[in-house]
Amino acid sequence: MKRENERRHGSLLILAIESSCDDTGVAVVEDGRKILSNWVSSQIEVHQKYGGVVPELASRKHVENILPVIRAALEGAKTTLDRIDGIAVTRGPGLIGSLLVGLSVAKSVAYVKRKPWVGVNHIDGHLCAPLLEREDLKFPFVGLVVSGGHTSLYRVEDVDKTHLLGQTRDDAAGEVFDKVAKALGLGYPGGPIIDNLSQGADSKPVRFPRALLSPKTLDFSFSGLKTAVVNYLKAHPLGEAEEDRLVGILSGFQEAVVDVLLRKAKQAARQEKLDRIVVSGGVASNSHLREKFREMARDEGFEVFIPSPRLCTDNAAMIGVVGYHALIKGWNSPLSLNAFANLPMPHGLIDGVLE
Ligand code: KG4
Ligand code: ZN
Repeated sequence: MKRENERRHGSLLILAIESSCDDTGVAVVEDGRKILSNWVSSQIEVHQKYGGVVPELASRKHVENILPVIRAALEGAKTTLDRIDGIAVTRGPGLIGSLLVGLSVAKSVAYVKRKPWVGVNHIDGHLCAPLLEREDLKFPFVGLVVSGGHTSLYRVEDVDKTHLLGQTRDDAAGEVFDKVAKALGLGYPGGPIIDNLSQGADSKPVRFPRALLSPKTLDFSFSGLKTAVVNYLKAHPLGEAEEDRLVGILSGFQEAVVDVLLRKAKQAARQEKLDRIVVSGGVASNSHLREKFREMARDEGFEVFIPSPRLCTDNAAMIGVVGYHALIKGWNSPLSLNAFANLPMPHGLIDGVLE
């Protein structure tokens, strides 16, 4: 009630739902900027023993989690479904069974409560996440999305105008973190585990090759790096109590990934004559990446925008930002809207493909 009184005149409350992979996320976002609540129910424990996300288990868990998480997010924001102005939900890309859980719930709530709603592209959400924390982020900018499923560079002109500059030709950066961790028997998800183990390392990083650094392309390739790590391990097997050598391999691998991401982002910014760079997606929570991009910003005069780690990994607040921009433009998705596992990025941050 108190929160309702505090709302500025004309402010818009968006209920946002994200269930594209293994996290059930629900957020309430005010005016596309202010997070009133942002809940993520993680399924890591469910998938850990399989070394990766099991799609069937993920969708079942979303079914169990979604209503309690919506309730918690509304309570956290001290609001109710009746006071929500619109609903935003991820409709792709992602695991189809998982996406359908969030999408079906969003459609049902929109229908029953007669609220406008929009289906949002997950990648748009990652690109918009910094808007939740940085009012000084202005268009245009270069956007680098680095996650478990994507590694792509965009020129982002405005919320309705983006242009793909380059993308991975094989594995995504997060995917190689996960695969390398699996190859070393370190557990799942690999990104945070490798990040933690590499911190404060004083053993010498192993030098691994960097792929596709030609100035002719802004594409990435990471599968060769994964093979290089596996081959290195075959040639120099790790014995027991060789923590230092393990750390050297991990930090060398991490350095190789970050080095390529950094060089390509810089190359994209120079090519596009832009000095603002957004880095987002799960891998953007990597501490070495954050340090290197900040160093680059300081030394080379770029402005780098990286969301806080909890807004880099999958969350619903970022979906709420995109939903806000779509809803204030008067968009309203039809109930026939479907989820798509391989939803391409539209030509803007707002998903223009409504059917
Ligand atoms: O954006 P996200 O939460 O989900 C997708 O849309 O894929 O990204 C998940 C990916 C996983 O591959 C995970 O290992 C990686 O992000 N990740 C990290 C870190 N935290 C998560 N990679 C490197 N360092 C981290 N600290
Ligand atoms: Zn993501």
